[in-house]
Amino acid sequence: MSDELEAIKTKFVEASSAAETLSALEQVRVQALGKKGAITQRMKTLGGLDAEARKAAGQDLNRIKDEIAAAIEARKAALEEVELEARLAHEGVDVSLPARPADIGRIHPISQTVDEMVAIFGEMGFSAVEGPHIEDDFHNFTALNIPPEHPARQEHDTFYLPGGPDGERKVLRTHTSPVQIRTMQATEPPIRIIVPGRTFRADSDATHSPMFHQLEGLVVDETTHMGHLKGTLVEFCRAIFGVEDLPVGFRPSYFPFTEPSAEVDIGCSRAGGQLKIGAGDDWLEILGCGMVHPKVLENCGIDSTRYQGYAFGMGVERIAMLKYGIPDLRTFFESDLRWLRHYGFVPLEAPSLVRGL
Ligand code: PHE
Repeated sequence: MSDELEAIKTKFVEASSAAETLSALEQVRVQALGKKGAITQRMKTLGGLDAEARKAAGQDLNRIKDEIAAAIEARKAALEEVELEARLAHEGVDVSLPARPADIGRIHPISQTVDEMVAIFGEMGFSAVEGPHIEDDFHNFTALNIPPEHPARQEHDTFYLPGGPDGERKVLRTHTSPVQIRTMQATEPPIRIIVPGRTFRADSDATHSPMFHQLEGLVVDETTHMGHLKGTLVEFCRAIFGVEDLPVGFRPSYFPFTEPSAEVDIGCSRAGGQLKIGAGDDWLEILGCGMVHPKVLENCGIDSTRYQGYAFGMGVERIAMLKYGIPDLRTFFESDLRWLRHYGFVPLEAPSLVRGL
C-alpha cells in the first residue's frame, strides 16, 4: 500500500481520536467517507486503472476505509458514553417522587357528594342499597301509607308510564322511599340502610329538575327511638358540612309514612345576601324525617308492636349546592365540560372520609 494512503489513513484515524465532540467527529467522517470525502474521491479514480491495478488499489482503499470507519465508530461510542455520564451527573432523577396521577376526567359533584354521604353513614354502620327507577304504585305510594286519593300523590308531580295489559300504570319513582318498602319486605329487622339514587318529578325550573337525586335512610329495630334519629342526623349534618358545632333543629312536619315527622334545619346566616352555613341565627331546611308509621311496618309484614324505626330522606343536589357553592341546579345536568372542570373533582384529589375530608 502506498505511503500516501497510509498517511491519509493515519490522518483520519488520529483526527477521529482527537475529536472532542460528536459534531467534530461527524466532520471527520464527512471529510473521509462522505460523498466528497478523501476516500470516496479516490474510489472514483479506480475506474481509470487496468484490471490488475484496480483490484490491488481497490482492496487497499476498502481496507483503510474500514479502518477509518472503525476508528470513527469507536470514538463515537466513547463520546456518547461521556455525554451520557455528563447528563446523568447533572440531571438527577428523584425516584422517591410519587408518580403524577393521570389527570383525565372529573368526578361529578353529585357522585362526589353521594360518596361522601355514603362514607359518613357507612362509618355509622349503614349499608347502601339501591332500588328500581321504575316503580309500581304499591311501592311508591300505597305501602307508604299514601292511599289512591291522597293529596300527596298530586304534590309529587308523578311521571306515569303507559298502562300495561292489566291496566296498571307504572311510575318513575318520585322519591327513594319505595326502597324502604322493598328492603322491609325482603329482610328481617334489624335494618340499617341508606339508599342513594335518582328520583323523578314532572317539575322543571331554577330550583327543580325533572330528574334529581335523593338519599334515603331507614333503621328498624326493637329498641330504636327518636333519640337515635336525632343523634344520627345531627352527626351527619355536622360531618357533611364539616362544622363541628353546627346548630341542627327539628321542626314538626308531616309525611304520610312517618309519625311523628320532622323537617331538619341547619343554622346559617344570610347577611349581605351571602349564605354562610353554621354561623348566624337563620335556619335552612335540609331534610325530612320521622319515626316509621306503624301502618308502613305492617304493610311490609313487620310486627309494629315489636319493632319500630326511623326514616329520613334528603336531596343530594341541595347538599352539593350548599357544600360546594354551586348556584344553579340546572347546571348539574347540562353536561358542560367547562362547568365540570370547574366544579368536578380530580379522582385522586377528591376529598373522602377514607383519606380524611
Ligand atoms: N320521601 C320524602 C320526600 O321525598 C322524604 C322523606 C323520607 C321524609 C323519609 C321522611 C322520611 O320528600
